[in-house]
Amino acid sequence: MKIKTESSAKKKTSLLCGFVLENSNKVLGLPKFDSKTTASLNQSIKDMEGKLGKLNIIPLSGKNPVQRIMLAGLGKKENLTKDTIRFVSGKIAQKARELKLKEFSIITPPSFVNEPISSISQIIEGTKMALYKFDKFKAEKAESSPDLTIIVSKSNKISKAIKTSEIIANGAIFTKSIANLPPNECTPTTLANFAKTVSKKNKMKCTVFSEPELKKKGFGGISAVGQGSTNQPKLIILEHNRGPRNEKPIVLVGKAVTFDTGGISLKPGAAMDEMKFDKCGGCTVLGIMKAVSELKLPVNVVGIIPSVENMPGGESYRPGDIIKLYSGKTAEILNTDAEGRLILADALSYGEKHYSPKAIIDFATLTGACIVALGNNVAAIVSNDEKLKKKINEASKRTTEEVWELPLNQDYMDMIKSDVADMKNVGIGRAAGTITAAAFLKNAIEKTPWTHIDIAGVAWTQGATKEKSYNPKGATGFGVRLILDYLQNLKN
Ligand code: BES
Ligand code: MN
Ligand code: ZN
Repeated sequence: MKIKTESSAKKKTSLLCGFVLENSNKVLGLPKFDSKTTASLNQSIKDMEGKLGKLNIIPLSGKNPVQRIMLAGLGKKENLTKDTIRFVSGKIAQKARELKLKEFSIITPPSFVNEPISSISQIIEGTKMALYKFDKFKAEKAESSPDLTIIVSKSNKISKAIKTSEIIANGAIFTKSIANLPPNECTPTTLANFAKTVSKKNKMKCTVFSEPELKKKGFGGISAVGQGSTNQPKLIILEHNRGPRNEKPIVLVGKAVTFDTGGISLKPGAAMDEMKFDKCGGCTVLGIMKAVSELKLPVNVVGIIPSVENMPGGESYRPGDIIKLYSGKTAEILNTDAEGRLILADALSYGEKHYSPKAIIDFATLTGACIVALGNNVAAIVSNDEKLKKKINEASKRTTEEVWELPLNQDYMDMIKSDVADMKNVGIGRAAGTITAAAFLKNAIEKTPWTHIDIAGVAWTQGATKEKSYNPKGATGFGVRLILDYLQNLKN
């Protein structure tokens, strides 16, 4: 899908799309057409009433450079969110593809609907993400994506916003496309190769630790979880260094369990296939790093991805084992299905020790309890730092990737105390499962501002996922837009 701009809406196009608010009698930003067209437009606006997500097509007469006009309902003005233009644009793009068009045009809504730059980025993110389809393993591929012309008065600011939005959308799509891969086609080694390819293309430094190096260096969590699989564990590190030379980096950590069977504490069979998405945290970090480097953001960012496959077998780690983490602390294993916190703890400690970062943010499909608590449309955050949390909350408001904070006080820390080791890898029964998992992670960090983002409910579409055009079935790339916004606004 190519994107260009055009200042006039009356240029040759097979489909000209404009937005309509509910209870309004006009298409936002549409210039005057001849009286016959205007009459059918007015009738069509009456028919569709600007209802949210509704699309209405009006064919125009042969001599018109515009072949069709499509009205896209935005719903009530007072209900507009920072997401409306995004998912309605996604619907428009999917319609254009369904009609097998080669190109289509969208009129940018005027500023009383949305700030123009924000509208542009929503149009681009919405259309691009909605047109992504995971069809790598199907003989019948999706129709090729139509090109987009955005109708807007041109300026340098607008062209820059377009480039930026395209990179951000591509980052999210990259995350989705890797996260959607089946576990037989995506092992820790595969992920390491993706990381190498991305970093080579965009001049990042990439380091990969494998066994036996991981063991030798003291990554006891990654080694223990990884030892049950013939697909060897990896620790993948990407470095983007475009900030001031001595400025401390932001470290991003992402859980990448390429398949989580639960290990010896085997999961029940139902929906186990979905545990191919247990690598989503790591994929999010990959997508962010790809975009950060393409945007050439003037910041230092490090991405750390601990990757394993959690399998049962003769060499697997077991309940009862006591392992030593990278921090030097010991952990009693009581459930091998609580594996994410073990590999993350190693990565967090490593990140803090080697980079003395300004902040650490981690992403993980960490707990089923997170879905019980917040459902499939909001991620949980747990943090040890007010300022960092505030910035992430602000980025969340701007991007509509929603987060909600859960508390973490000493009482929760006490819930993971072990009789025989420094801590245990589970809490007490099912009580506050998302928080006790975060408590385990907190023990891996000494002093750095840190925010943990549990994306178990939002990383892929599940039972209660709100339908959104730009998140078709499968991985959503949650966190990519959120953290890119955070990184772009670091200085504010
Ligand atoms: N990857 C799972 C968490 C998960 C489950 C995410 C379902 C999304 C959907 C994680 O490794 C896990 O198994 N966690 C356990 C922890 C428990 C054993 C303390 C869980 O949530 O049941
Ligand atoms: Mn698990
Ligand atoms: Zn897991």
